[in-house]
Amino acid sequence: MVRDGRVMKRGKIEVDMAWGQQDRARGARAIAGAGGRPYSLQPVSSDPSPVFAQRHLLGIEHLAREEIVALLDLAEEAVTISRQVEKKRTTLRGRTQINLFFEPSTRTQSSFELAGKRLGADVMNMSVGTSSVKKGETLIDTAMTLNAMRPDILVVRHHQAGAVHLLARKVDCSVVNAGDGAHEHPTQALLDALTIRRNLGRLEGLTVAICGDILHSRVARSNILLLSKLGAYVRVVGPSTLMPADVERMGVEVAHDMRSGLKDADIVMMLRLQRERMSGAFVPSAREYFHYFGLDEEKLGYAKPSALVMHPGPMNRGIEIDTAVADSAQSLIREQVEMGVAVRMAVLEALARNIPNA
Ligand code: NCD
Repeated sequence: MVRDGRVMKRGKIEVDMAWGQQDRARGARAIAGAGGRPYSLQPVSSDPSPVFAQRHLLGIEHLAREEIVALLDLAEEAVTISRQVEKKRTTLRGRTQINLFFEPSTRTQSSFELAGKRLGADVMNMSVGTSSVKKGETLIDTAMTLNAMRPDILVVRHHQAGAVHLLARKVDCSVVNAGDGAHEHPTQALLDALTIRRNLGRLEGLTVAICGDILHSRVARSNILLLSKLGAYVRVVGPSTLMPADVERMGVEVAHDMRSGLKDADIVMMLRLQRERMSGAFVPSAREYFHYFGLDEEKLGYAKPSALVMHPGPMNRGIEIDTAVADSAQSLIREQVEMGVAVRMAVLEALARNIPNA
């Protein structure tokens, strides 16, 4: 089939045979991927069936086990794509994705941006520093203004728990929660699960120790929900000042020292001290905190010898984690970042399949 001066063949674009010899060579170079291979303009997966039934991804709480597994499987395909020279897919071609961040973020925002771009979306980043929120506009006014610009997907981070849910009820497009206060951070939990599954082959039956500032952590909350749904044993470890009062109700074990908390752990997941969410003194000093709860070689020795170390970032080296451990062969921290892009591609692709085309 010939369209727009190009020959369409089995979903791939090839150079129009009617072009002159020279033009053809130039055209081929322009559209060729590495090694002269043509771009394969396809979605992430050849199977377009729905991954989950929802219009938004607001949290792990409302996802079924099967939906989580389907997202992780789709993310595996996105890992393969992201490791190729040619990373571009067409799932979001023609779609507009707005990343609306009311809290500073480096890795999550750039990860969502790359994920959207790899799927062919037009991605716009909007952070609070440059918006009218500084001038007093409310969250909903900002959301409605952006809504009027007809985006297809809004990726939202906000410092208040529940803000993203509220926003999702007001707009017409799909909404992804990129972290709301101390509530949920679903794509972080998904990328953590993907990283664990790729390294240990499963989640079921593993012991995962989540350590540090549990009280203020949306990462801990989303991970507890996800890991429990997938059959892992979760233990939360930290000082009582940083432990939510009724955390046992989430079905986790609680430990207040690293020796008992890390016992037999397959995964040691460290959390950042969320100082920006603390009003008052939750820990005596960074030095003392590191002494009791910072992960160093000695404390890691309480876990299984094969234990793997994780941290969502940004890390406070020397406060919650020692540099030697963070950079050791047991650390999955950099792999988590790579998996972040893949998981976000999977989430965006899954949502795109549910967006009406008309
Ligand atoms: C986490 C977050 O923002 O909740 N970081 C992230 O997503 N890159 C964890 C944290 O900030 O400590």
